[in-house]
Amino acid sequence: MTPTSRFARLSLALLLSLSAVNVTAATAEISEKSFRCLQEMTPVRGFFVDNLSGNLEGTLAIAKSSTGGVYPPGSVVQLVPTEVMVKREPGFNPVTKDWEFFELDVDKNGSKIRKRGFADVNNRFDKNCFACHVAAKPEWDMICEDSHGCEKLPIPEYVIHSIQKTDPRCKMNDASVLQSFTSWMVRKLAPN
Ligand code: HEC
Repeated sequence: MTPTSRFARLSLALLLSLSAVNVTAATAEISEKSFRCLQEMTPVRGFFVDNLSGNLEGTLAIAKSSTGGVYPPGSVVQLVPTEVMVKREPGFNPVTKDWEFFELDVDKNGSKIRKRGFADVNNRFDKNCFACHVAAKPEWDMICEDSHGCEKLPIPEYVIHSIQKTDPRCKMNDASVLQSFTSWMVRKLAPN
């Protein structure tokens, strides 16, 4: 073997092993630690966003756009603490437009991943995430909200709001303690 071809083989082997490592890293990098208390994420209308690759601006630009668009990789979108959509790298899963669906268990210690995947993930009521979200008109990149063409959720908006406010992963700060005390006082003192 000539030194050049040995070098070529070696570089090829190195390249292959590097890309294998890369693929594993890409899937492994999203863990239960990637998710946090909803109130620490950025609110947009009725839902919350984050970006795991540090591109929150890119995520917000699409979330706030009145004409839609494609969310950048790393985007995290949540309506309730236990259901998450994460945008993966382009081409990761063309069927779900590169969205990965997560169903979490949450408590004061953080998040645990119950299920993750693509078109095959069901929520805890055994309903398929993808089946609902794929109905959003194409310009909305599978984000449903209340007017993008998806089947409506069987839960009223005020219930969703209170689920958002009581994410068990959020630390109770002075303001929220004061807030719950005030609302308790108001309920106590209010005439029926
Ligand atoms: C019955 C249909 C249905 C199923 C099943 C469903 N969703 Fe949704 N989802 C919706 C609708 C409708 C909304 C918008 C609600 C609103 O804002 O009024 C929504 C909102 C969301 C949002 C906020 C962004 C958006 O699209 O408005 C995320 C993130 C989300 N769902 C993730 C999931 C995940 C993850 C699963 C599965 C574990 C899931 N959903 C299952 C219909 C569904």
